This record gives sequence, C-alpha cells and structure tokens, in this order.
Amino acid sequence: MPSRESGAGTKRRIALTVNGKKVERDILTRMTLAEFLREELDLTGTKVGCNRGECGSCTVILDGNPVLSCTVLGIEAAGREVLTIEGLSSGGKLHPIQEAFVEHDALQCGYCTPGMIMSIKALLDRNSNPTDEDVRKSTDGNSCRCGSYPNIIRAAIEASKKMTHK
Ligand code: FES
Ligand code: FES
Repeated sequence: MPSRESGAGTKRRIALTVNGKKVERDILTRMTLAEFLREELDLTGTKVGCNRGECGSCTVILDGNPVLSCTVLGIEAAGREVLTIEGLSSGGKLHPIQEAFVEHDALQCGYCTPGMIMSIKALLDRNSNPTDEDVRKSTDGNSCRCGSYPNIIRAAIEASKKMTHK
C-alpha cells in the first residue's frame, strides 16, 4: 500500500514563459507556483504571507488573470505565461503603477505591495478608467496590515490617468 509520502519527491519538467522569457526546469510536482518563482527562479519579489490563499501577497498574473500563486501548483503553469512584479519595470524605469505607489505613499512595510500592484495591473489591463470601487473590488483579496488602503486606491487611480495620458 503506498505511503502518504508517496510521490512527494516526484519531479516533472516544465516549460513556461516568465516575464517574457522562456524557462524550462525540472520541478517537484508538489511545489507551488510561489515556491517555484522564489526558490527556482530567484524571483523573490513575489511574497508569501499566509501560504493558504488568504492574504493576497503572492498575487501574480497568469495568462492575464491575477492568481494567488501559493494556491497554484508550479506544474499547472506549464505552457503558460506568468508575470511577476519583477516583469513590470523596463529599462531601469519603474512601471507607472510602481511610480504612483511611491508618489502617493501607498506602502509602509511593503510586504503586501507586490501583490497589490499585480492585482491593480490586472485591473488596469482590462479597465483603463477605474473608479475607487473598482480598485477596492480588484484588491479585496489583498490584505494590508499597515492599513495603507486609501493611499493604495489613490495610487491606482493616478496610475490609470498616467497610463491613459501617455
Ligand atoms: S501567501 Fe498566497 S494568499 Fe497569502
Ligand atoms: S504596506 Fe505593510 S502590509 Fe501593506
């Protein structure tokens, strides 16, 4: 009879696109996408807070949709496109959402920030002119223990204006 640990060390080769680059790795089938990004690819901008789908700090964009990467297995991302916080800046220049977070003091400890920004990025990709309520809804799975919510909403709205007027 197989033990409960059976298969715990099983690896599978996956190929996917992360921040526009093709990557291929042998990974443990039980590894979450968050673990894969942080431990295999050194993309530690994605934060793990609760590790059980409650805080939103691990949010990344998978095929255009925001997902909690602690609740997705790495092997589920095979053949798909992942965007993490590291993929937002380009040529040494911050993304307008990141700039707006700095300008509007939208972070204190910063632990929730990558996840917040990825949820807002997914929102602005489908709605270039969001209301405060839209921002609230898109980030309702993202907790900020420092209570930066008013500034986060202001930053998201200002970022949307910058992005549509550039
Ligand atoms: S670490 Fe994934 S939701 Fe909290
Ligand atoms: S800035 Fe500290 S948890 Fe949000």
